[in-house]
Amino acid sequence: MNLERLQLEIDGPVTRLWLNRPEVRNAFDGLMVTELRKTLFDLGTVDAVRVIVLGGRGPAFCAGGDLQWMKAAVHFNREENLREAQALADLFFTVYNSPKPIVARVQGAALGGGAGLVAACDVPVAALGTQFGFTEVRLGIIPAVISPYVVGKIGESAARELFLTGERFEAVRAAEIGLVRAAVPPEDLDAAVAGRVQELLQAGPRAIAEAKALIREVAWKRVEDVQRYTVERISDLRVSAEGQEGMRAFLEKRKPSWVP
Ligand code: COA
Repeated sequence: MNLERLQLEIDGPVTRLWLNRPEVRNAFDGLMVTELRKTLFDLGTVDAVRVIVLGGRGPAFCAGGDLQWMKAAVHFNREENLREAQALADLFFTVYNSPKPIVARVQGAALGGGAGLVAACDVPVAALGTQFGFTEVRLGIIPAVISPYVVGKIGESAARELFLTGERFEAVRAAEIGLVRAAVPPEDLDAAVAGRVQELLQAGPRAIAEAKALIREVAWKRVEDVQRYTVERISDLRVSAEGQEGMRAFLEKRKPSWVP
């Protein structure tokens, strides 16, 4: 796929995917949504890809939906309008549902859908000074398709405050409410991301995909409703090739085969 809105860098087991529309602070339009969704889906099917790092070129990670593009929806009929919104929803689901671990490298600003992207990623790390915000209500709209991922990360209490005020907040607050996992000085951002990547590379690739599925399955459910599922998953995984190799490697005091 020829990419106009993204850059792809392959570095052994690590793929870096850059939003590359810095002149509008990586705001996403229909083309970026399509490219990002398809690229992330395709990367999810490649065994050699072990970790994806999502970043933004230029001064900001992502300024959310392209407001020119969103405004133009007034010319769509209801069907077209729904189709575009569905494509956006599919993008966030593709990030969330990827079998690969996705680290977000966040700097400058992550607003609206940009903050939603952060929420859908697994391990977001932000530079101190980054501004976050669910600014939609200040534009007369709402953070609709991102809300399941955001509420899942920050909970209803913080969502009520931040979705309703639309106020901007800083990386330290984003870390406190669980939107990002860490807030580090800007000069340490790449080292912090590299550290997270190294930790993820220690884990079995199938185990990572299964762990992500496990979280999706058990979140917000009653223990009784998910216990059978958890019993089946551990039974399957402990007899899998990867599970056997991981346990054998520990007992033999060596690294498992998947550690580079
Ligand atoms: N959609 C379309 N264009 C956007 C945009 C968006 N979401 N965010 C920024 N841009 C454009 C600006 O209009 C400006 O265009 P111009 O050069 O033609 O004037 C350009 O990107 C640079 O923006 P600017 O505000 O000058 O850059 P900055 O570095 O000072 O600030 C932001 C960056 C992201 C903090 C600021 O642009 C901003 O707050 N954007 C709005 C984000 C928002 O509310 N998003 C929610 C969407 S649902």
